Amino acid sequence: MSERFLPEKDAYRVAVVGATGAVGRTMVEILEQRGFPVEELIPLASSRSAGSKIEFGGKEYVVRDLEQFDPAGLDIALFSAGGGTSLAHAPRFAEAGCYVIDNSSAWRMEPDVALIVPEVNPDALEMARHNRIIANPNCSTIQMVVVLKPLHEVARIKRVVVSTYQAVSGAGGKGMDELARQTAQLLNAREVEQEVFPARIAFNVIPHIDVFLEDGYTKEERKMMDETRKILDPSIAVTATTVRVPVFYGHSESVNVTFERPLPAEEARAILADSEGICVVDDPASEDYPMPSEAAGSDPVWVGRIRDDTSFPNSLQLWIVADNVRKGAALNAVQIAEMLIR
Ligand code: A2P
Repeated sequence: MSERFLPEKDAYRVAVVGATGAVGRTMVEILEQRGFPVEELIPLASSRSAGSKIEFGGKEYVVRDLEQFDPAGLDIALFSAGGGTSLAHAPRFAEAGCYVIDNSSAWRMEPDVALIVPEVNPDALEMARHNRIIANPNCSTIQMVVVLKPLHEVARIKRVVVSTYQAVSGAGGKGMDELARQTAQLLNAREVEQEVFPARIAFNVIPHIDVFLEDGYTKEERKMMDETRKILDPSIAVTATTVRVPVFYGHSESVNVTFERPLPAEEARAILADSEGICVVDDPASEDYPMPSEAAGSDPVWVGRIRDDTSFPNSLQLWIVADNVRKGAALNAVQIAEMLIR
């Protein structure tokens, strides 16, 4: 047994940074649902929402201004307030002795920062002993690697080709507001206002998430490609197309995987059905397959449409769906926190 990360206590002091946001609110909810031993919850946000209230365990907690907050004595801080906020504040929390679990992309690819999906690479958490900053991967990466890991173990993955169908909640509360507002505007024959997404999202799909890079990929695609290799295996080739769709909660992914040796669909289905954190829903005869409408609000990663790729040797086609705000962000972060107190 390796040494504990945090001393054994009845309960811990936990801060949630970005507690008024879509992911932060869900972090608070999941801490409560999973019975995380919280001695004191400290919700933090910008000065804009300092003073507002958050409910946790039947009590109200006042949101405090992150800028003014002294992290001394904290055990764990869950950050989901954007990359800039993490870069500015995570180091001072870590230096004060608290473990930071950061949902932004700010630290993920730093070579000495642990990038963790508990079902996939729990041992990498050892890295966090020195710098106390742990990165939570990108939402689309998390749900994909949970499914790829058990398949990689038996047949060694050579290459992954993925296209995503990503919900607007991935862009936070303001993304959900924009889809709702534009839908109402269009149905009322009004002019559509566009602020958050690079094009109209209502009744549309947008093959553009985050900024374009010089090589023609977007930063979201680059995140999926680099993070998958860091978490799973740097020898795997990955290419991605990431697409925003007019869905509120739940990312879907069409994934093509090529292995070193044959892995028939039937065997893959059995392996996945037996793996941690995964639910297989795959019965074409009854038109049963995962969809965001059903995955939203749930914890597992759902996989279906598992079939042999008849166009290429040693290859499989999969359809993977998960609640991007839960397993893709808040739940994964709380699972990491659970590892720290185990
Ligand atoms: P606030 O309510 O004060 O704006 P979402 O991802 O849903 O848009 O939410 C973003 C979260 O990050 C909110 O809780 C927001 O707080 C918080 N946030 C944004 N910028 C800052 C900042 N500079 N300092 C602290 N919290 C921030």
